[in-house]
Amino acid sequence: MSTAKSDVRKVTTHQLQEMKNRGEKISMLTAYDFSMARILDAAGIDVILVGDSASNVMAGHETTLPITLDQMIYHASSVIRAVNRALVVVDLPFGSYQGNSSEALRSAIRIMKESGAHAVKMEGGVEIKESVLRILSAGIPVMGHLGLMPQSIYKFGTYVVRAKEEVEAKKLIEDALLLQECGCFGVVLEKIPAQLATQVTQQLHIPVIGIGAGSGVDGQVLVSHDMLGINTEFHPRFLRTYATIGAQMQEAFSNYIQDVKAKDFPNEKECY
Ligand code: KIV
Repeated sequence: MSTAKSDVRKVTTHQLQEMKNRGEKISMLTAYDFSMARILDAAGIDVILVGDSASNVMAGHETTLPITLDQMIYHASSVIRAVNRALVVVDLPFGSYQGNSSEALRSAIRIMKESGAHAVKMEGGVEIKESVLRILSAGIPVMGHLGLMPQSIYKFGTYVVRAKEEVEAKKLIEDALLLQECGCFGVVLEKIPAQLATQVTQQLHIPVIGIGAGSGVDGQVLVSHDMLGINTEFHPRFLRTYATIGAQMQEAFSNYIQDVKAKDFPNEKECY
């Protein structure tokens, strides 16, 4: 028996596959809270990613490593409460799946059960194969993440473009094919040469979503706070800024402060 909240046609992993099959691009953006997720869903986004970039954007950490499973569940449940249509994918945070496959399954189950999310995303290829398979065997949809993997930043040493060299590019293609073979419903490719991303997209039958991976992929993802101009300290070449919300917010806050100091706010109409 269905107890769906509304009649809106929800985006599913099957629909993403259909979109790839008919050549329709997939839109994906991040959200970590109820208000942002509500606006994104109303705008018609296909996929909302509760990314572990919340560690940087919401908590101000330098990397994505510190965010915990409990914190990801908190962000994901806030997002889920706002969403009617979009597919909500949640990052398994660093340390919640790399240990062994039982731990990985436990973490994924907690995310699904406690937040109501629709899928999880994990960074890595062959190294995490057992965990991916175990989570998939529990009926939890998994999205892979290859290329620049921010959870491995201390191994990489820098945030520069990945897989420029042949050996790394070959491994990336093998990992992408492996994730598809395991049963992942899609793969994110972060910050790799556009030509390589196009090649992977043509070889895979599952959707490939790019961030800094050019236009030959099946869809695009950005961090919402970056594309809205709220986070202004980060402007890599691949980022298109669609608004200057940060500057607008600062102006609004400073106008408010002036009004309060000048005893102009509240006026008679704003009182009871
Ligand atoms: O955490 C995140 O926001 C991500 C995107 C950059 C793909 O993984």
